[in-house]
Amino acid sequence: MTDLLQPKAIGQDHARRDGPSKVSGTAPYANEAPVDNPAYCHLIQADVARGRVTATDAAEAEATPGVLAVLTPRNVERLASTEDKELAVLQTDEVAFRGQIVGLVIAETPEVARQAAGLVSFTYAEQPHDVTLSADRDDLYKPDTVNPSFATDTSTGDVDAAMQAADVTVTQTYSTAMYHNNPMEPHATTALWNDGDLVLWDSTQGVHSVRSTVAKVLGLAKEQVRVICPYVGGGFGSKGMPHAHVIAAAMGARALPGRAVKLALTRQQMFSLVGYRTPTIQRVRLAAAKDGRLSAIALDVVEQTSRIKEFAEQTAVAARMMYAAAHRATSHRLAALDVPVPSWMRAPGECPGMFGPEVAMDELAERLGIDPVELRIRNEPERDPESGNPFSSRNLVTCLRDGAERFGWADRDPRPGARRDGGWLVGTGVASSVYPASRMPKSDATVRFEDGRYVAEIGAADLGTGTWTTLALIAADALGVPADEVDVRIGDTEQPFASVAGGSSGTSTWGTAIVEAARAFRDKFGQDPQDGDEAQGQVPEYRASERYALYAFGAQFAEVRVHADTGEIRVPRLAGVFAAGRVVNPRTARSQLIGGMTMGMSMALHENSVLDPATGHVVNHDFAEYHIATCADAANIEAYWVDEHDPHVNPMGSKGIGEIGIVGTAAAIANAAYHATGVRVRDLPVTLDKLLPGLD
Ligand code: MOS
Repeated sequence: MTDLLQPKAIGQDHARRDGPSKVSGTAPYANEAPVDNPAYCHLIQADVARGRVTATDAAEAEATPGVLAVLTPRNVERLASTEDKELAVLQTDEVAFRGQIVGLVIAETPEVARQAAGLVSFTYAEQPHDVTLSADRDDLYKPDTVNPSFATDTSTGDVDAAMQAADVTVTQTYSTAMYHNNPMEPHATTALWNDGDLVLWDSTQGVHSVRSTVAKVLGLAKEQVRVICPYVGGGFGSKGMPHAHVIAAAMGARALPGRAVKLALTRQQMFSLVGYRTPTIQRVRLAAAKDGRLSAIALDVVEQTSRIKEFAEQTAVAARMMYAAAHRATSHRLAALDVPVPSWMRAPGECPGMFGPEVAMDELAERLGIDPVELRIRNEPERDPESGNPFSSRNLVTCLRDGAERFGWADRDPRPGARRDGGWLVGTGVASSVYPASRMPKSDATVRFEDGRYVAEIGAADLGTGTWTTLALIAADALGVPADEVDVRIGDTEQPFASVAGGSSGTSTWGTAIVEAARAFRDKFGQDPQDGDEAQGQVPEYRASERYALYAFGAQFAEVRVHADTGEIRVPRLAGVFAAGRVVNPRTARSQLIGGMTMGMSMALHENSVLDPATGHVVNHDFAEYHIATCADAANIEAYWVDEHDPHVNPMGSKGIGEIGIVGTAAAIANAAYHATGVRVRDLPVTLDKLLPGLD
């Protein structure tokens, strides 16, 4: 049990503190770092998917007025650590995927750098490449663990026997597409060396993690690297760890003593250099009795990684704990392909991994003749099926019932294709959401009294999520003062250590450190501090996860309309109800949740990175062809939450909400599309070509 804060500022609606500086364009982003006379770097990328660079001709580029340097594997510095092959920029002639960095040009202007990059010619010894994921490859392998450190496979009881014995079963294969993180702000790094020390202005989800990774690759002490990032225009996981361009910027600046170097990726470059969500192939098996109670749940996943670095998405982990079933099995198998390195994208694991099982639940509900909301309620576990621990709080049933009520589920005709409105077939669907309520083991904070105001300092990140505001509310309640007496300083390694903004753990972790610092401050200085008084706090040892299963839950309801003649798909309504502990700032929380749901709708209907097997190239690598939901697609998206008291998660009683909004959305929409049309689409995205053949 944690000593919970008395919420006064927490729970009240607060405008973003960074709002005015953002809308007026004065909030500085990484590419706007305040440096004198910067040079500009442009990356050159391999245009073969596998092979070796045998010759490089940079003469024309080097002769271009304004070009300061052209770096290739032939003339570049050796890095101190090349253990992480993604970050071993220009350390080898080998090309492991199309789009890999093979050179960089630094020039007086970004335009000249980009033009000259096109003038460097490379000769390749090409080798046959393989970029095709399938479940029947004979080289699939079992990773040691899946992200970040879950068991790869689990098995309890006997799924095969349960499938044999069951009244009703579902055995189906589902697939999700390859998806790319596309934050509004492209990745950017400004690098400046001073007497062997490095300053980076980097668009990142964690300044301290960039610092430690970059220091290791460049062979520096951590203290020699300062990373600054007050504002981020989104990341969705793609800025959760430094990618190759960060190292490239540092190398580029080191080649030009005294000059700062700015490197901004183009939108196209982001499709090969900053991670993406692996496509997944999911074999789901469900076994149930006539009353709907599950006896078996199994999920076997096949997905891809790159040849040079493993990333194993934990797609099957949610199936391990979601519903009660005595017999359970999960597995992950990987194909190592000649593709860019996959990585984190909003709710890695849960997001793709709740698609197959939540559509399978819909298929099971139909076979049983049980309402899909009711089927989920009937399979509510008493305890976490996997660990046997109690849930610290679990309000999935409340979310399902509350959502059904708000959405108007009660009068739903269960027959698919039964509702028609003019030329439109109308259906509704439901799916559950889940995301772990995590807290990182380490973060530190300082609370200081300065010029008559309180200042909370921690090297945290605000991805656009509202950290600048939420941390002030937490500090205010921990100090027992109004929020407008508290300033927050974040986004700099000069500040106390902060964990990365990942796994929806930021507010939980940093907030805990701030509460500790505020309590220490009050213990030390009482209610009437002097200027300069200061106290530190750190996240205390946290044992709750050994005794409790800690998760946020949700239920999402979708209405889908499919045009009977054209197959055009619209989502006029999407409603989500979430149980995520205490909500710190309703305004930014709602924004996070509807943002996640919008991204889930985008995943369901629009997004799809098309990897050309002939070239290894994501051919739709821009916003013209990689379709993302627009305002016109997001008609009526509502997020609600239920009151939830959880004294085990952290002193705020809050659970992370950055990711749960995208979990389950795609299944709710696919289920609604089926209900509208009677056509079951099991591979995302749900596009009209998949529906049309089944429409009369
Ligand atoms: Mo999030 S994908 O854990 O940054």
